[in-house]
Amino acid sequence: MKIITKIEEVTSIISSLKSLKKTIGLTPTMGALHKGHLSLIKKSTQENDFSIVTIFVNPTQFDKKEDLDNYPTTLEEDLFLLKKTGCDLVFTPQSSEIYQNKVDSESFSFDGLEYEMEGKHRQNHFDGVGTIVKKFFEIISPTKAYFGEKDFQQLQIIRKMTHKENFDIEIIGCPIFREKDGLAMSSRNTRLTENQKKEAPLIYKALKNSVINFQTKSITEINNGIKQIFEKNDILDLEYFEIADEKTLQSITKKDNSKNYRAFIAVYAGKIRLIDNISLQ
Ligand code: PAF
Repeated sequence: MKIITKIEEVTSIISSLKSLKKTIGLTPTMGALHKGHLSLIKKSTQENDFSIVTIFVNPTQFDKKEDLDNYPTTLEEDLFLLKKTGCDLVFTPQSSEIYQNKVDSESFSFDGLEYEMEGKHRQNHFDGVGTIVKKFFEIISPTKAYFGEKDFQQLQIIRKMTHKENFDIEIIGCPIFREKDGLAMSSRNTRLTENQKKEAPLIYKALKNSVINFQTKSITEINNGIKQIFEKNDILDLEYFEIADEKTLQSITKKDNSKNYRAFIAVYAGKIRLIDNISLQ
């Protein structure tokens, strides 16, 4: 497994792979890898001749400096885990290699997807994500790129960006990996205190509840039920719960049986922000 920090070295490897007509799988990550990431990488190694993982904590997608500063970095452990996945190359650049002297986002239109849910609560977050994913797509030009469904809005936004920017890349969405207690795996979970860890599975319980209630109750009743669950909890603060159309990501007040819906949730445990979602079909 090659570990590379310079764009030039990556592009030179990519051009030899392309001349040999090899397929390339890309899994972009911000490190602090867990089983969810590893499942994407394993899928990439199964489906492609050559698999690349990027590890880069992208500064432009953080709206709070504190969140960026506290983002877990575990490079040595990550590399140890990656060696076992069959990954061929890890690209782990410094910020200056990617952004030179201008740590700035490009401005994108994602046809409104960016204004829903996460977009309302994390300023310019999706411009930052779009900027870095576009840069990696340009450098690596993968055949397929792998993203987790835990960040479902991000996944849909990346699909939109890929289409609008005419990238010939297949975007593969992969299912959420969960702890035994149901908590969606996330790099941020490592920062939870014992007490927060004990309470956090309530997020998935609430989502499962909404799947059952979606059959019989109105959207308002479901929304109110979720609010009540979190009002009774001293450790977790609900930021939002929304039932939204999977394609437009717009929240709904009434069901239309011809459409697919998901429930989306964001919760604070102290300063740690946790998100999750579930299909309602
Ligand atoms: O999901 C993530 O870890 C990040 O948003 C991504 C896609 C690697 C871009 O920095």
